[in-house]
Amino acid sequence: MSITRQSKPVDITEPYDAEWLRGKTIIITGGASGFGEAFFRKWAENGANVIIGDINDTRGKALVEEVRKQTGNPHLHYFHCDVTMWQSQVDLFHSALKVSPNGGIDHVVANAGVTDLHPTFETPQNLDAEEPPK
Ligand SMILES: NC(=O)c1ccc[n+]([C@@H]2O[C@H](COP(=O)([O-])OP(=O)(O)OC[C@H]3O[C@@H](n4cnc5c(N)ncnc54)[C@H](O)[C@@H]3O)[C@@H](O)[C@H]2O)c1
Repeated sequence: MSITRQSKPVDITEPYDAEWLRGKTIIITGGASGFGEAFFRKWAENGANVIIGDINDTRGKALVEEVRKQTGNPHLHYFHCDVTMWQSQVDLFHSALKVSPNGGIDHVVANAGVTDLHPTFETPQNLDAEEPPK
């Protein structure tokens, strides 16, 4: 049996307290630029452990180095990940677990967008399988 844990709807009339991010481990795909970069900078500043997976290695590595220096947060990482390839995503999750100081992954932001219909994309099947399906 699969268990779905879902948070309550966000009440946007409540003030936002960025402190809840401290110590959380967050993966952002496509985090080397654009929206993903902005999330990365903000959450790194607020003490989260943030891991970027992107295809732009030069930019991703430089960004992590810059923000580590700027924030003093050592728990920022870059790994190559091409979201159109299943194994590349699996590798990103395994790499993220290895560097996660809390031993887990709290949030995943599936930000890398691929606008073309990609030949390697498949519709997920059998979501209750022991191993995550492609
Ligand atoms: N910018 C907008 O107005 C807008 C509007 C609606 C939705 N979106 C969505 O928001 C997301 C981010 O948009 P953005 O404007 O910041 O994009 P962007 O092009 O500025 O950044 C995208 C990032 O994803 C990376 N990337 C591209 N292909 C990848 C792949 N196969 N695997 C891993 N990383 C990959 C790029 O290297 C880049 O760092 C996308 O999913 C986009 O479709 C953007």
